[in-house]
Amino acid sequence: MRLPGILNFVISVITLSAIWLFASKYFSTNLHGRIFRGVIDSKSIKNKCGIAKPCGEKDFAFRIMSGAASAVGPSICLDGKIIMSSVKNNIGKGINIAFINGTNGEVLKTGFFDMYAGDVNELLDFVKPVQTGIMAMVASYDEPASKLNDEARKYFTDTLGSNYANMLQFRDNWILIGVVGMKNKSPFEQHIKNDGKTNKYEGWPEMLEMEGCVPRKME
Ligand SMILES: *[C@@H]1O[C@H](CO)[C@@H](O)[C@H](O)[C@H]1NC(C)=O
Repeated sequence: MRLPGILNFVISVITLSAIWLFASKYFSTNLHGRIFRGVIDSKSIKNKCGIAKPCGEKDFAFRIMSGAASAVGPSICLDGKIIMSSVKNNIGKGINIAFINGTNGEVLKTGFFDMYAGDVNELLDFVKPVQTGIMAMVASYDEPASKLNDEARKYFTDTLGSNYANMLQFRDNWILIGVVGMKNKSPFEQHIKNDGKTNKYEGWPEMLEMEGCVPRKME
């Protein structure tokens, strides 16, 4: 009799598939659960801004991310507060800047300036009145350089302590923390060139991310 043989075979296959489906679902859920818990344990809950190591009392915790290609906006966190992000709806393509009272971490103002189709004078009008000693956090998104003129590059270099503002070019990524009027170069800066040979995305370099502790201003 051939029919029961075929039926047997079909039933076996169905049973095996069901077991396999169950097993793969069970194990992958379990695995995700473990990975997820691990991330929370080691990072996001314990420290402000989700940074790996806590900061001392004289420092602010910070995390700053550039945009990723033209798809994901930048994000700026200081002392446990997201200051600029897509969710806050206060970021844009070009250069994003937050000015902060370095004594108490209060946000004084934030702005974003389109450096591809915008007007660099809007950026200059925004930054020029800010007084000495105020902290600045800067993050690029998509294209930060086309409209940057000498005056704006000089502001970032001479006034905010940037090493890279003079070299910034089309679709480079750049993040910076500086203090208005600082005499030294900022140790809190990263830059990556848009280079077809090394780009992570087609047309853009990898996003930048920097986290750590930045000293509060001591009166
Ligand atoms: C910054 O905060 C300190 C302490 O709260 C305050 O004394 C100072 O006036 C503030 N500076 C600015 C520019 O808001």
